[in-house]
Amino acid sequence: MRISVTDIKQKKSKSEKIVAVTAYDYSTAKICDTSGVDMILVGDSAGMVMLGYSSTIPVTVDEMLVFCRGVVNGSKNALIVADMPFGSYQPDLSLAFSNAVRFIKLGCNAIKIEGGREVAPLVRNLTQNGVPVMGHIGLKPQTSPLWEGYKIQGKSCNAAIDLLHDAMELEKAGAFSIVLEMVTAESAEKISKAVSIPTIGIGSGNKCDGQVLVLHDLLGLYDDIKPKFAKRYADSHTLFSKAVASYANEVKSGGFPDPTHTFSMPPEELKKFEEYLLTSLKTGEKERDGDRQSAI
Ligand code: KIV
Repeated sequence: MRISVTDIKQKKSKSEKIVAVTAYDYSTAKICDTSGVDMILVGDSAGMVMLGYSSTIPVTVDEMLVFCRGVVNGSKNALIVADMPFGSYQPDLSLAFSNAVRFIKLGCNAIKIEGGREVAPLVRNLTQNGVPVMGHIGLKPQTSPLWEGYKIQGKSCNAAIDLLHDAMELEKAGAFSIVLEMVTAESAEKISKAVSIPTIGIGSGNKCDGQVLVLHDLLGLYDDIKPKFAKRYADSHTLFSKAVASYANEVKSGGFPDPTHTFSMPPEELKKFEEYLLTSLKTGEKERDGDRQSAI
C-alpha cells in the first residue's frame, strides 16, 4: 500500500522521522522506493539537475509532467509529491487548480507550492477541492534569487517570527506538511514544535520532523553547485565518469564487446552460411567474368 498524506502526518505524532528525497525518473524512483524513502518529491530542481537550467525558474508544467510520469511508473510505496513550477499557481486559483489536477490525474499524490501567508488562500482552495498540498517556506528557489539571492533564512528574531506565522497560516489553510529550506536550526526547531503538521527540512538542522535532499546531491552526481547542507553519500560523478571512460577505452581497443556480451550462430548454421558465401561469391565472380568477356 502506498504511504498516504495521513500516514505522513501520523509519523509526526509517533515521533518517527520522515525520509524524503527528490527523484525525476523511473529508474531512480525505483531505487528510492525500495530503500526506505517515505516520500518522493518530483522537485522543480529537475530543471537544474536534469535539464541544465541555471535555476528552477524556467521549468514548465509540461516538463514536470514527464518527470512525474517516470516516478509514478517507478514507485509503488512512497508518497509522490509534484512540485508546481513558477507561474503555474500564482496568482490565479483556477489556473492553480487545473495545473494541480494534471499532476494528480497522472498519479501523483500531492503537490508542493512555494510561499507562506501569501499563498494560504490558494492552499485552502486546493485542499478544499481535494488536492493535498505541501508548503515550502524559508529559502524559496523560485523567487528568492529574484529578490535577495540564496540567503540563510530565520537568522533574526523578526525573520523567525515571520517564518513561524507563515508556517501557522499554511497549517490553518490545510497543508499536510511544510518544507523548511535553509532556515537556521534554532528557528526550524521552534517552528517544528509550534505546528502540528510535519516540517521537512533541507539545510534546516536536525530538529525538523523529516529531511529531504536532492537525489543528485546525495549521490554526488551534480557538481555545478555544492550546497553546504547537502551531504554526499556517494561520489557518483567520479564513479560514472570512470565507468564511461573504461567503456570508451574498451571500444577503442576492441576489448568490448567480448564473448560474454556477444550472441553466436549455432556452428552448423555458420558452416552453411560460409558455404553459401563461398559458392555465391564464386558464382558472382563467374558472372562478372562473363560480363567482362562479352564487353570485350
Ligand atoms: O525542487 C526541489 O528539489 C525542492 C527541494 C529542495 C525541497 O523543492
